[in-house]
Amino acid sequence: MNWQLPLMLAQTNDSNLENLRERTEAISMQGTTVPDSSLIREGTSNPFVTEYWFPTQASSFAGEVDFLYMSIFWISLVFFVAIIGAMVYFCVKYRRKDGVIAPEPSSSHNTAIEILWSVLPSIILVWIFYVGAETWFEMRIPKENAEEIQVTAKQFGWLFTYEDGDQTNELHLVRDKPVRLIMQSEDVLHSFFVAAFRQKMDIVPGRYTYAYFEPIKDGVYRLSCNEYCGTGHSKMKTACIVHTSEEDRKNNTKWIEAEKTPFENGQRIYQIHCSGCHKVDGQAATGPALNLIWGENEKMIDGTTELVNEDYVLDSIWYPAKHIVEGYGPVSKMNSFKGILDQKDVDYVIAYLKELKEQSGDAK
Ligand code: CUA
Repeated sequence: MNWQLPLMLAQTNDSNLENLRERTEAISMQGTTVPDSSLIREGTSNPFVTEYWFPTQASSFAGEVDFLYMSIFWISLVFFVAIIGAMVYFCVKYRRKDGVIAPEPSSSHNTAIEILWSVLPSIILVWIFYVGAETWFEMRIPKENAEEIQVTAKQFGWLFTYEDGDQTNELHLVRDKPVRLIMQSEDVLHSFFVAAFRQKMDIVPGRYTYAYFEPIKDGVYRLSCNEYCGTGHSKMKTACIVHTSEEDRKNNTKWIEAEKTPFENGQRIYQIHCSGCHKVDGQAATGPALNLIWGENEKMIDGTTELVNEDYVLDSIWYPAKHIVEGYGPVSKMNSFKGILDQKDVDYVIAYLKELKEQSGDAK
């Protein structure tokens, strides 16, 4: 019997990746008007089927982590059975019997047994410590040639910035290329977790933390936030794609603004910065859906209405507290994007919102 129920991810190569991309796009196209170029989209069904036993060992130390885990598990099991077994046996054997008043005298000590039960567990514990420390050092001490990727976590999404300045909200890596993630949070405590790499590290506001690993198997893995960080925590997941070559990765991360339409640039900004909280399928999330708002009069929490035009969009991005839409108060949950998105970026977002509205108009 095949214990690895999920079919596809165990041996993903780049052609499988292409299939996955097509499949994911097909899913994400349902019920939305957004053509999709990214791999994983909010609201799509999760293409990563959970494996029955441990996930694929996709990092250089994953095998060691599993070995240590299983060793401790079996050692614990053996001692559990032996100790509980002996306890039950003695309970029965030396139980109180009719007609016997005093317990049988027992020997005061047994040197051989006492040495055995002291020395044997000590050896086992020192061995566990040794193997544990060795594995820990491998997880914490990056190789000299490790590339550095900046990770920004926020409610509720990820932003990865590569050494050449490219940005994505999936993590793209190259097989056999060690990587050091330098991680920061824009708001609250999050946690980086890729089970296939056996690597997890908290991301703490106001400081940098890092995670290191070397992917040894190409494929698509699930990357999730592993620390409850608010209502959207369960949606704070994305894909980690391990490519077979640097070139492959480049093809998936490179973005040349000048070669794209304002709509495409706007869509990308939306995916990277906004999609964690705002949907474009009409569904309310942490923030209001964005696909139908352009040119509409929106009700605010103070009872006034605001026309969604250029200024409204600019204000909403730079000064999120200025207009709070009814149902999303009393305080705006959004951080200002002033300094992150300039006015040209806002132009792109506006182009994107206009086009979304038009597309939905056509659909009606
Ligand atoms: Cu971020 Cu949970």
